[in-house]
Order: sequence, then C-alpha cells, then structure tokens
Amino acid sequence: NLKNISIAIDGPAGAGKSTIAKLIAKAIHFTYIDTGAMYRAITLKILQEHIDWKDEIQLKKLLDHTKIDIIQGNVFLDNRLVTEELRSPMINRCVSDVAKIPLIREKMVELQRKIASDKNVIMDGRDIGTTVLPNATYKFFVTASLEERAKRRYNELQEKGFPQSLEEVKLEIQQRDKIDSERKVSPLRKHEDAIFIDTTGMTVEEVIDKILSYIKIA
Ligand code: CDP
Ligand code: CDP
Repeated sequence: NLKNISIAIDGPAGAGKSTIAKLIAKAIHFTYIDTGAMYRAITLKILQEHIDWKDEIQLKKLLDHTKIDIIQGNVFLDNRLVTEELRSPMINRCVSDVAKIPLIREKMVELQRKIASDKNVIMDGRDIGTTVLPNATYKFFVTASLEERAKRRYNELQEKGFPQSLEEVKLEIQQRDKIDSERKVSPLRKHEDAIFIDTTGMTVEEVIDKILSYIKIA
C-alpha cells in the first residue's frame, strides 16, 4: 500500500463531524480519528492533576508523562477508558482554552500525523485540512446554523442525562467556536480547497451520501 487515502473533516461544534466520520469510516473501512477527543483527554488530565496550564515547565512535564490512545473509537488516557467522561460539561467549558496552547497543539498534531502515517484515515477536528494533513486526499468543511447545532447537542446531552438548557448549550458552543476561530495557532477556518457543506436541515444519511459522492476509492 504505497499511497494512503486521507479524508479531513473540519467544522464548528455540533456540525455532525464525528457522527458522520464514524459512519463513513465503517462504510469504506477507514480508520476514524477523533482529534477533538485528544484535546478533551489532555484537558481532563490537566484538571485532574491541577496543572497550571500557563506554566510551560509543568505542561512539558505533563505532556511527556501522558499517554493517549484511541482504540476502535474508545479513548484511553494513561490506559484508563475515558470516552464518556470526555463529553462532560466541565470539559466542554475548558477544552478550547487548553487547545489554544501552542505546546499542546504541537504535541497533538505530532501524534495525529503519526497515527495517520500508515493507513487510510478519516480525521475530524478544526485544523485537519489546514494544518494536520495539508495534503489530505479529500477535505470537507461541515457546518450548520448555530440554532441547529445547539439543538443537536442539546438532544444528545438530554439522552445522556446532563441537565443543561438549550440556551446554555447554545452559549457554550458559541463561546467555544469563538475561541477556536480566534486563536493564533491553527484557528478553525475553512481551507480554500475544502468542499463546503451546510448541513442545516439535512439528515445524517443525506450528509453521508453527499460526502461519499466525492470520494473515489480505486
Ligand atoms: O464534538 P465537538 O465539536 O463539540 O468538540 P470536539 O470535536 O470534541 O472538540 C473539542 C475542542 O477541542 C474544540 O472546541 C477545540 O477547542 C479543540 N479542537 C481543536 O482545537 N483542534 C482539533 N483538531 C479538534 C478539536
Ligand atoms: O462532531 P461534531 O461536534 O461536529 O458533532 P457530533 O458530535 O457528531 O454531534 C452531532 C449530533 O447531531 C449527533 O447527535 C447527530 O446524530 C446529529 N445530527 C448530525 O450529526 N447531522 C445531521 N445532519 C443531523 C443530526
């Protein structure tokens, strides 16, 4: 296998990136890599260890002693299964501030590229098409109206039993999108080559069909 195929999916919170990427990966037998989960995992570790994230020396030490693995969609932080914990409101509130830190991004990007280096991957995040895999075979930028993204996220949280109001969820993703788009290092933005898909009013199936219509696998 000389030439691996890579698919980059970027976009704001609640756009459906991970739902869609997971199902596409299954359909075409690619490895799915959830880069958001990696930023969430390092955030969890920082909170647990009470690390001052503005202290470079503490951070460097932490990064050298942190192991993040993604095995069949499950996230392991230092060998502990944390997939569910990573979706908590506490992590939602802190993750974008952690993801702004250049040292953290450097480390995560390195890890992401390593995982992608020897296989066909579909990777979702904020900076995949622009920074992590600038030579990705396919690049998509997936979004939807803020109202719809908030509603999608709200429904999920309801199912999981997190008692947040629609207004709170909306505010939270709005704040996160703002920090993610305005940060200095690899901000959230559409790569000029990325295919833009506004999923407002579309079902998951419709979005998947649309993306698959662009993908040619020899
Ligand atoms: O699922 P949701 O869109 O809510 O979030 P996520 O994809 O799990 O990402 C959580 C946070 O991680 C984002 O709000 C960004 O701050 C950060 N992130 C990033 O900076 N770069 C990425 N490639 C992926 C996520
Ligand atoms: O990863 P990202 O934050 O972009 O979104 P997600 O975690 O996949 O959450 C999107 C939610 O909206 C999921 O509950 C999906 O079932 C739902 N949804 C969608 O993803 N796409 C649509 N076109 C419609 C609904």
